[in-house]
Amino acid sequence: ETKPRIPVLWLHGLECTCCSESFIRSAHPLVKDVILSMISLDYDDTIMAAAGDQAEAIIDEVVEKYKGNYILAVEGNPPLNEDGMFCIIGGKPFVEQLKYAASNAKAIISWGSCASWGCVQAARPNPTRATPVHKVPGLPDKPIIKVPGCPPISEVMTAVITYILTFEKFPELDRQGRPKMFYSQRIHDKCYRRPHFDAGQFVEKFDDEGARKGYCLYKVGCKGPTTYNACSTVRWNGGLSFPIQAGHPCIGCSEDGFWDKGSFYDRL
Ligand code: SF4
Ligand code: SF4
Ligand code: F3S
Repeated sequence: ETKPRIPVLWLHGLECTCCSESFIRSAHPLVKDVILSMISLDYDDTIMAAAGDQAEAIIDEVVEKYKGNYILAVEGNPPLNEDGMFCIIGGKPFVEQLKYAASNAKAIISWGSCASWGCVQAARPNPTRATPVHKVPGLPDKPIIKVPGCPPISEVMTAVITYILTFEKFPELDRQGRPKMFYSQRIHDKCYRRPHFDAGQFVEKFDDEGARKGYCLYKVGCKGPTTYNACSTVRWNGGLSFPIQAGHPCIGCSEDGFWDKGSFYDRL
């Protein structure tokens, strides 16, 4: 309550906007408390009222006025082919806006699998050369925290912000740059269907007897055993459910290159 709200620039490259959709659904803390009491979301071209030159001027102002004291949040990634022409923001390639906004940032948060790994637009053959944030050539050297998932869980997103503001440091990261507190366990480790896996009780195809009994989804392609995320503990929609609880296998959406790893219905 006594600290000034830290400025945040939230940029959007090639993406689908569902990371933002997830973020605004956070229940603990409520996203209104994050935006009105914890951070100063000075630029987010998806939800801000300003547009055009007025909006772009805000980036200049924050970069100059808050040198080393603002957070750069990135949703999506820049395409590098054709000099970045596949994603133009304010008349310039997104990659230029990204590098400029990163120049004086305290740190960068890569929201979701697009910014963290590349995601669908970087899947083979990646015609635009979509590139995750940490691999962008010439990006100013800043600490990067990856919060992967397609999208990430809303409460994981707001918890990462809350941690940084409360303790004035990053949460502990793993070797890939993800917060250990949310990405150190596999979905499989805490899945409530795990007893069925251990007992050899599997869904063989959707809508069979095993599916109706809630058996393990491994044989219909579940990637829970190789996916690091908090879905089976934190869950979604305020802790209500997650894909496996809805009867669908995990497709490994928080893993690097999940689009190219045969995550989609390859065993049906
Ligand atoms: Fe959308 Fe997934 Fe990219 Fe987030 S990570 S912007 S949900 S495609
Ligand atoms: Fe593991 Fe998936 Fe089976 Fe759950 S449904 S026990 S995550 S293989
Ligand atoms: Fe994604 Fe698997 Fe969670 S598909 S939402 S990591 S259960």
